[in-house]
Amino acid sequence: MNQTARDRSQKATLRILTIETTCDETAAAIVTDELKVLSSVVASQEELHRRFGGVVPEIASRAHVERILPVIEQTIQKAKIGLSDLDAVAVATTPGLAGSLLVGLMAAKTLALALEIPLLSVDHLQAHIYACRMAAEKNVFPCVGLVVSGGHTSLYDCRSAMEFELLGSTVDDAAGEAFDKVASMLGLPYPGGPSIQKAAEQGDREAYALPRAFLRDSERLDFSFSGLKTAVRYQLTGPGRVNFSTLDISPQKVADLAASFQAAVVDCVVAKSVLALAKTGRERLCVGGGVAANAALRAALAYEADNGNWELITAPLALCTDNAIMGAIAVEKLQAGMSESLRLDIRPGLIRKIRPLADA
Ligand code: KG4
Ligand code: ZN
Repeated sequence: MNQTARDRSQKATLRILTIETTCDETAAAIVTDELKVLSSVVASQEELHRRFGGVVPEIASRAHVERILPVIEQTIQKAKIGLSDLDAVAVATTPGLAGSLLVGLMAAKTLALALEIPLLSVDHLQAHIYACRMAAEKNVFPCVGLVVSGGHTSLYDCRSAMEFELLGSTVDDAAGEAFDKVASMLGLPYPGGPSIQKAAEQGDREAYALPRAFLRDSERLDFSFSGLKTAVRYQLTGPGRVNFSTLDISPQKVADLAASFQAAVVDCVVAKSVLALAKTGRERLCVGGGVAANAALRAALAYEADNGNWELITAPLALCTDNAIMGAIAVEKLQAGMSESLRLDIRPGLIRKIRPLADA
């Protein structure tokens, strides 16, 4: 153990800077080894992507380059500490947009090298589940983990905070992606999730019979939302190129389609989560990701939990969409004495078996 490592192991409180740039949010936070949050900053790019109705990868990575240093500086200032007070730096390296991931990784490596502190990697989906651990303020593992976000819809068997195994995921679009695209077809603003939720309040969830993929398949824990998206489109128009902005859809039809679409997503997500609990025998479901903010989904899961013998933990609204507080999962690694080498690389694709070290 060198002098710096010895000093660190004797310090009362360790401070970890966590960095998140997997998609379109530039975020940083400082958390302690006791999972106390000292500061958190999220710079959203919503404004930049709104007119495209979805995230444009090249715009996202360029915006991360502009924002990453000010966001880190602000995070450190808010925590009322200096750079030299940091004991480790953690960064989300998988899954995500390659250009976006690289910006966070380069910033984290530079700090680790310059400050001579450990570098830790974070799996973004594991972090979405860890948001539940942060909110619950108690150990939530083992559990079934459900991540419903703009990029992913995945169910995991979470044996411990560090060991996740994928049970099922979407075979095409993620739930959030479907929310965003359907909102755009209905002329509702980006991001689509909150817009659809709002429109659905005035609609009838049974107005349209929309497909629910794999719902009756008791073997598969996968999801598919692309057919649902197409079914909404066919309620509005036929095939071929369509300029949706020129469609004249009545407000009631928008509300009914929003409600029927939302109900179809909720039915599938809830049914597969309950099936995952039954198949694994776990007694707790932890839910994270942007779509976990959806009120209809939260209510349906709460109803199932009340009628089943399992505990539901949903990430609080502020920790559903991308943030760096959930990167506190890195504390578990630090406490287990793990760190990554400076050869650490990004892995844009989904990892089926999440293990403690990125290179493992
Ligand atoms: O987790 P997140 O911030 O980013 C990814 O890692 O992908 O999730 C963003 C997604 C967007 O698709 C957005 O439309 C959706 O979460 N979302 C919602 C709600 N709030 C955000 N979807 C449904 N209902 C909501 N209330
Ligand atoms: Zn996310």
